[in-house]
Formats: sequence, C-alpha cells, structure tokens
Amino acid sequence: MRRRVIGAALAAGLLLSACSGISGRMRADAPTEEELIVIGLSQVGAESDWRVANSESMKAVFTEDRGYRLLFDDARQKQENQISAIRKFIQQQVDYIVLMPISETGWDSVLQEAWRAGIPVILVDRMVDKSYDNLYTAHVGSDFLQEGKLAADWMETRRRDEEGPVYVIHIQGTQGSTAQLGRTRALEAALERNGNWTLLAQLDGDFTQAKTYEAMTVCLGELPPGQEIDIVYCENDNEAFGAIQALEENGYICGEGGVDIISFDATRNCLTSCLEGKIALAVECNPLLGPKVEEVIQTLEAGGTPDKHTYAEEQCFTREDLSESFIAERKY
Ligand code: AHR
Repeated sequence: MRRRVIGAALAAGLLLSACSGISGRMRADAPTEEELIVIGLSQVGAESDWRVANSESMKAVFTEDRGYRLLFDDARQKQENQISAIRKFIQQQVDYIVLMPISETGWDSVLQEAWRAGIPVILVDRMVDKSYDNLYTAHVGSDFLQEGKLAADWMETRRRDEEGPVYVIHIQGTQGSTAQLGRTRALEAALERNGNWTLLAQLDGDFTQAKTYEAMTVCLGELPPGQEIDIVYCENDNEAFGAIQALEENGYICGEGGVDIISFDATRNCLTSCLEGKIALAVECNPLLGPKVEEVIQTLEAGGTPDKHTYAEEQCFTREDLSESFIAERKY
C-alpha cells in the first residue's frame, strides 16, 4: 500500500489500454505491493439490477493488474454497516474511500473521521447533505431530479389533452436517498401543476421487486373494485417489475390501453419489457461509473483537483426508440 505517496513509477508504468474494454489505463508491468492504490469501497447492497451493474463496473476498473487493491464492502442496505466499513477503512489506512451513500443524512462523525485521517472520500451514485460539502473530495453520479423531470415532461405531454382525472400510484425508493428525493420531488411538482392528476397511493418499495410486489398487492386489495389506474410511477426498474406482477395478478393491463408504467434505470430487462409494450417509459440512470471514479482518482494522483460533481449522460426510452439488437448490445 502506498498511503497517498504518488508513485512516479506507477504513473510511468501506466499505459493506455486498447483491449481492456474500459477506457483508461492499464499497467504495463505487474505493480508491486507498495505501488497498489488501496481503495475502500462501501456499496449500499445488491437491492437492484442497477446496483449489481454498478458494483461490477467498480470491480472491473479497480483490479490489481490496473494498479489498485479494492476492499469491497456490501452494506446489505444498512447505513450502520456503511459507517462500520468506513471506520475499518480508516484503521486500515486506505488511500481512498469510495462511498455510495444509502441516504443523504447521518454521516457527520464518520466523514469527519475520514477527513481528520486525511483520506479523500469520493461519493458515487447518490449524494450526502449539503452541510457535509467540505468533507468529501468529489461526487460522481446522476442528477436524479433531472431524471424525474424527464419523466414528468413525458407524462404531461402524453396526458396534455385529458380533462378527466388521471389516477396515479407512486412507488418510492429507499427513503432519504438522493434517488428517491429527486424522483419524488419531480412527480410531486407535476401533481401540483396538473389539477386533474389524483394520487391514489404513495407506497414504499425500497427499490426492490419483492417489497414493491407486496406493497402493491396490499394497495390494490384496498382500492375500490374496478378503480381506474392510469400511471404507476416506479422509482426504479425492480419496483416496476414488482408492480407489473401485482397489477397483472389483479386483472390490470400494463401498456397501451392500460396502465402507463414509468421506470428509472433502463437496465436490459426493463428495456425488454418496454419493447414488449409493458413499460411505457424507461428513464436511464447509468450505473457504469467505475471509469469516471478512476478519472477522479488519477486526477488526485497527479496532484490535480477533480470537478466536485461529475454527472453521467442519460436519456429516456419508449418502445419506438428500441430494438432487440440495441438491447442485446447494452452493457447493463
Ligand atoms: O441510486 C441509484 C438507484 O439505486 C437506482 O435507481 C436503483 O435501482 C438503485 O437501487
């Protein structure tokens, strides 16, 4: 481990790799133990297809033959596990801490401990509260409010001429996470703007298929028989899968002439469902953040100052935008 000694030998040994499939750098020779950049990474868990793709992206970039030692910790969706992992990384004197924060608050002490230990913290995916701005070095992730706004725009355009009620069910992600807060804020603003939109229920799906299926099944059982549902706004793909299952079991049609399912992430399974016509809109949330995190680390290694925020480029998909070959080539 180098403990933040910028390895001239390492820098000199870095070569552009044409064949790794990862844009970035590859060691020409095997790095010695002392040259490895040690990264302690605290991942939220494996609650969604997105999360699995995100972990794979990190593991593909931070390999020993590329000059890194990755200490990967899966917090199983518990903030206390993330805090314990970070404390352990500090004790181990890692060179960098990479944190995918489960929620925005509750990080005061542990981020201060990392800061006092002089270990740069790089936030990935979600954000932490503004009050901790000085306690992390950089953030690489998504603009979740913007994602929500893309969905809201699409729904408003589609429902433009509807004067009667538009019935909406909202399934939220993990409470207090940036992804939930941004996507929820955008829907709530759209509900306020459109007087004929009626929120039938707001459910907690915790970004998982199982919890959403359960919550949606209970909810549908409590609605008046024959209740019309126009939109189910799911804050990620796995929630969409759980919601579709519950809706279909209760006799609803998902797709044209039935319920518009809105989903975020746009992973391969979601796009397949969109191409089949079940999911009306898939808003992309790009999990392949490993190369961008590496750029931040390499900037720091070279003595530079990385951008405080780096956002992934993202887009929306409807059935018309998709084909089988497009989905087959997609990396997640
Ligand atoms: O923070 C990103 C969100 O977290 C993704 O939309 C979701 O699938 C994941 O669990």
